[in-house]
Amino acid sequence: MSKTNKDTLRSRQVAALSGTFYVPGDKSISHRSLILGGLAIGETCISGLLEGADVLATRDALVNLGVDIEKTETGDWRVKGVGLNGMVSPATPLNLYNSGTGVRLLMGVVAGQHITATFTGDASLSSRPMARITEPLTSMGASVTSRDDQLPVTITGNATPLARQHQSKVASAQIKSAILLAGLNARGTTQITEPYPSRDHTESMLRYFGADVQQTINDDGSHTIDLEGEATLRGRKITVPRDPSSAAFAIVAALITPDSDVIIPSVGMNPLRTGLINTLIEMGGSIDRVNERTEGGEIIADLRVRSSQLYGITVPARRAASMIDEYPILSIAAAAASGTTDMRGIAELRIKETDRIKVMAEGLRKSGIDVTYDNDSMQVSGQVAGGNINGGVTIAAQHDHRIGMSFLTLGMVAAQPITVSGCATIETSFPDFAAHMSDLGASITGVSL
Ligand code: S3P
Repeated sequence: MSKTNKDTLRSRQVAALSGTFYVPGDKSISHRSLILGGLAIGETCISGLLEGADVLATRDALVNLGVDIEKTETGDWRVKGVGLNGMVSPATPLNLYNSGTGVRLLMGVVAGQHITATFTGDASLSSRPMARITEPLTSMGASVTSRDDQLPVTITGNATPLARQHQSKVASAQIKSAILLAGLNARGTTQITEPYPSRDHTESMLRYFGADVQQTINDDGSHTIDLEGEATLRGRKITVPRDPSSAAFAIVAALITPDSDVIIPSVGMNPLRTGLINTLIEMGGSIDRVNERTEGGEIIADLRVRSSQLYGITVPARRAASMIDEYPILSIAAAAASGTTDMRGIAELRIKETDRIKVMAEGLRKSGIDVTYDNDSMQVSGQVAGGNINGGVTIAAQHDHRIGMSFLTLGMVAAQPITVSGCATIETSFPDFAAHMSDLGASITGVSL
């Protein structure tokens, strides 16, 4: 009897994609809802939470830190906050598995309380840099033990962390958020300046929960955030928008698959997350934002996407933070475009779940696409109109969810099927991705062993 393998999926060329595509809740906002809910006084009720493996790892870690979290009969999540000093030292290490956001934000939480926790993760997370988080937290008074720059990391927090000014070399929401979360208990103002703005969900949500947070764009384009310490957070009701980073796969699939017309409702349109949509529109993509509205402090819109001839462009470095997770799928759009797409200022991609520049470049080359790259940029030369993407290859996603979903999208327009191994981690951000895509008309199936 043959068994179907969920880790290895095969995507075949299809004629057209059509219908309505509901993507799951935003991953960044889901992590933050649980964390701020845990730090607040009173109850937080969350609807639309992403129930992917990354967010569930954050949920489990918070439960181990003493927070009561449950799913209600209606499918919403209820978090009973313990206040800013109410967490307890967990009895066992906090395993955040694949989740960079979970581990880094929670390090900030622990650093601002009088508790000790050890953080661990899977092989990918254990190879990612942590000094960018532990160094500023140490400067605020936390004591940190780690092996070099990597997990496992043990943090003993300080219940009255130092209010300080921080200057981050990179625009990273994870670094910024860890510092802000640690600063909640500081006496005075915690300030952080990043070279240009990264996603500001932490700032918005902290304000929504009652903290005093100011954001300033400086004359040189850098972004300064001031947080008044000794804040009081009050439990709130949160509706999580649908994730633009997950919508990205359906957007590109619909643009590059001929005769497609797809609606993607209620997608988060925070301007610090819409870099990919702006880029695809510049490339010639037909993407209409309709029914724009604000829910729970975040802008959302319905998207209508129709197949389009795309043209290569230069994507400026300044745009990188607003689409940092979207370069893998942008490089698939670039492969199907006419001309060369030059992506600049993307060095941060090298330290994501995999080295995304290298893994994408190798997979695209294997699929017959011309790619050049260096430490900070990648150039993808697409097919001239009517040209073929060969396919007929097996790509190793190396357990990186976004690489997996990207090559499955390329399979939709390749002459021969594309098989992708290492897809199980797609569950971290997009449960049932293959089934949802297949509902639109894609052909993505498990490979029989
Ligand atoms: C995230 C921030 C980004 C992004 C990650 C989610 C967040 O990382 O890559 O998937 O929720 O804060 P950096 O801001 O550290 O680049």
